[in-house]
Amino acid sequence: MFQGRLFEGKIFVITGGGTGLGRSMAHYFMSLGARVVISSRKQDVLEQAARELAQETGGQVLPIPCDVRSYDQVENMLAQTISHFGLPDGLVNNAAGNFLSPTERLSHRAFDAVVDIVLKGSYNCTLAFGKKWISEKKPAVVLNIVTTYAWTGSAYVVPSACGKAGVLALTRSLAVEWAKYGIRMNAIAPGPFPTKGAWDRLFPPQLSEALKPEIRVPLKRVGHHQELANLAAYLMSDFSAYINGEVITIDGGEWLMGAGQFNWVERVATPDMWDELEKTIRAADEKRA
Ligand code: HXC
Ligand code: NAP
Repeated sequence: MFQGRLFEGKIFVITGGGTGLGRSMAHYFMSLGARVVISSRKQDVLEQAARELAQETGGQVLPIPCDVRSYDQVENMLAQTISHFGLPDGLVNNAAGNFLSPTERLSHRAFDAVVDIVLKGSYNCTLAFGKKWISEKKPAVVLNIVTTYAWTGSAYVVPSACGKAGVLALTRSLAVEWAKYGIRMNAIAPGPFPTKGAWDRLFPPQLSEALKPEIRVPLKRVGHHQELANLAAYLMSDFSAYINGEVITIDGGEWLMGAGQFNWVERVATPDMWDELEKTIRAADEKRA
């Protein structure tokens, strides 16, 4: 979508940046000239991703291991970013944990594990980075990766739904409170974008045929990583300077498909049935008249 060196001179930190959508965003931001920190728990995964990203884009990337659930580790990750690249211009809260399970089967530790990565991880990073930006008087941008069930809720992924709803509240709250410091905050709510992390935990082989995401998406396909990276680049760039506190859905119409009462009519009423159906409906009207 963008060309040239849109992000020349910019420094961005992406949590969960070594895999999946985080890696795809890192790739695109680096292609556009940004220096990028990718951060997550697994050092070997990060280091391999960093090597590949540098090779693929010719850009600069720094892998920093950090568990976002620990505020001390987040502060340490920020300090390393500053000493290597300088004070970052933006943060993408992308790290997440999730798995499919009936809620009554979860231990309280399982519930904590997911909410702590998603919500606590996002506010830990936002707080540490925000304090620094404010004290240094540096304008900045935060992008939070949520999901569409942040506002609808969803069965079988309840800790994730609770965590993502909290992150959406964080987005809308701080967009207002920190605007005076020149800090913008937005969110992206992706629909299904195939990644190993999500697919292994949400579409196990026994269910994957029945749960096939394409069936529920009006556009009848999953998302391409580049499509999400395009939107993320826009929201991290100055082109979106007047967008603040917004959540942008990128799901091919999936969540609205589940919401509209008659959206499923086409499943049962094929186009050749409509002459007959119209006759029946009109006839019922005439009987009443
Ligand atoms: C029930 C489970 C479980 C499962 C773990 N637990 N997996 N309980 N069903 N499938 C329990 C454990 O038994 C333990 O409880 C507690 O959860 C913590 O487990 P740990 O393995 O110690 O946790 P940890 O190492 O911190 O790993 C966190 C994790 C893991 C969330 C469990 O899956 C992970 O690392 N995920 C990161 C990547 C990820 O999830 N990516 C997908 C994002 S997809 P006890 O009581 O035994 O101690 C996404 C997309 C949404 O968000 C929308 C898609 C369309
Ligand atoms: P993914 O590859 O599994 O990404 C999750 C990342 O988070 C991993 O790199 C993981 O790395 C990191 N992470 C997990 N726990 C962490 C912790 N405690 N500290 C630091 N990093 C941690 O899955 P994905 O599909 O790309 O998901 C990326 C984002 O998109 C998530 O916010 C997810 O909720 C959102 N999303 C995805 C989809 C989809 O269809 N894929 C749909 C809606 C929303 P480590 O294990 O090395 O820590």
